Amino acid sequence: MIPHSRSARWRRTFRHSAVLSLVAAAAMAVVPHAASAAASTLGAAAAQSNRYFGAAVAAGRLGDAQYSGILDREFNSVTAENEMKWDSTERSRNNFTFGSADQIVNHARSHNQRVRGHTLVWHSQLPDWVKAIRDANTLRTVMNNHINGVMAHYKGQIYAWDVVNEAFADGSTQLRSSVFRDVLGTGFIEEAFRTARAADPAAKLCYNDYNVEDWNAAKTQGMYSLVRDFKARGVPIDCVGFQSHFGSGGAPGSFATTLANFAALGVDVQLTELDITGASSAAYNNVTRICMNVPRCTGITVWGIRDSDSWRSADNPLLFDRSGNKKPGYDGTLNALNAVPGGGGPVEIGVNYRLVAAHSNKSAQISNASTAPGATLVQWSANGGLNQQFDFLSSGDGYYRVRARHSGLVLQVAGTATGANITQQADTNSTAQQWRVVDQGGGAVSLVNRLSNLAMDVWEVSTADGARISQWTLTGNANQRFQLQRA
Ligand code: XIL
Repeated sequence: MIPHSRSARWRRTFRHSAVLSLVAAAAMAVVPHAASAAASTLGAAAAQSNRYFGAAVAAGRLGDAQYSGILDREFNSVTAENEMKWDSTERSRNNFTFGSADQIVNHARSHNQRVRGHTLVWHSQLPDWVKAIRDANTLRTVMNNHINGVMAHYKGQIYAWDVVNEAFADGSTQLRSSVFRDVLGTGFIEEAFRTARAADPAAKLCYNDYNVEDWNAAKTQGMYSLVRDFKARGVPIDCVGFQSHFGSGGAPGSFATTLANFAALGVDVQLTELDITGASSAAYNNVTRICMNVPRCTGITVWGIRDSDSWRSADNPLLFDRSGNKKPGYDGTLNALNAVPGGGGPVEIGVNYRLVAAHSNKSAQISNASTAPGATLVQWSANGGLNQQFDFLSSGDGYYRVRARHSGLVLQVAGTATGANITQQADTNSTAQQWRVVDQGGGAVSLVNRLSNLAMDVWEVSTADGARISQWTLTGNANQRFQLQRA
């Protein structure tokens, strides 16, 4: 794991203590995925934190080799875009048809993809014969028969079911008018969840809706009251799906709060139908990080694969273009899935920090307070100098430039080799000047360069004034952990 030249130096340092070397090696071997290579597909990257990354799939497109090629390379979960809805599965009373839905489930099973079931009780894509029912006993029987019929067919094969979809009215804390609410009353949701639990106890049961991502929206509050009430009374519910159909700005600022508050009720949260107008890298990166920072956010599904597959095709809201190429939003998403959860949290823009190395308690500084480009980064005892103060400039995608206060120049790595110098240079926002902030716990972070994927590292764990700070493979050891202290 440690490159040869470095391990030779480590052996020199610790040659008096073989036991200590062994302990150090063992400790490094168990460093979690922070130290391992980043995954190169969405599904594999999500799996590093036991999450899934899924797509809505149309059975009619599975024969398109480009489409299924991307699906099977990148995704480890699927949702039937339309094929499990009531108008596909029970077009006339008690005549169940599963042909196209089975195609999707069979494809998923043979490619090790989990399946989200979508959806059992919804006012839309609902056959006219159901909408015409006026008698409560009849509708109750019909609703439960539908849930039982569909769930029995897929029993044991579905990771999570959207039991009830879009029951709340827009801009309101109350349920929308639908045949279910109007004929059965608001209790239809509870009835549906109780029936679903009995039908397939292995499936997680979700409530799913849109425009519920903003914590301050009335609809969000209505949904929160429903879930809180269900948990308090023991009505079975395991998860809440946030559809996440966003405009070009992406997720609302309070989405992290929303997810955290729902998770605190004791349910999983999932982003179930994500698409973002324009699909900017920053917007996808942000929304993915929001999920990654909530332990109970168990996965993300995008609502289609290529822009040409999208129900909002004109908005180009997805991660692949019409030719199947990865778009910038793909990289933004992948980077966020590969980042260590919580990374980046401590950094505030516009604040001056000292970077204090955990092993030496010395501050990173620009040598001799030089203001010239090319001056190197070293450690020194804290002395209040402006050359020991740095602020962060956002480069997007969770990366930052680190700017020295005395000179206005930013830290840059000299290439991709381990041991290469870090110097100050004029700000060009090149990737050699961009760093991500990896949370190492205990208030310390590692800074990992975007170009080299190597971490800021005090050379040979030196505790001396003037020891240079270069870049090395991320280990999370004390000479790579820096306390960000407000200056
Ligand atoms: C959409 C599909 O993408 C379209 O193909 C179909 O014509 C209409 O439904 N909320 C949901 C999804 O829960 O089922 C919807 O899917 C999009 C909005």
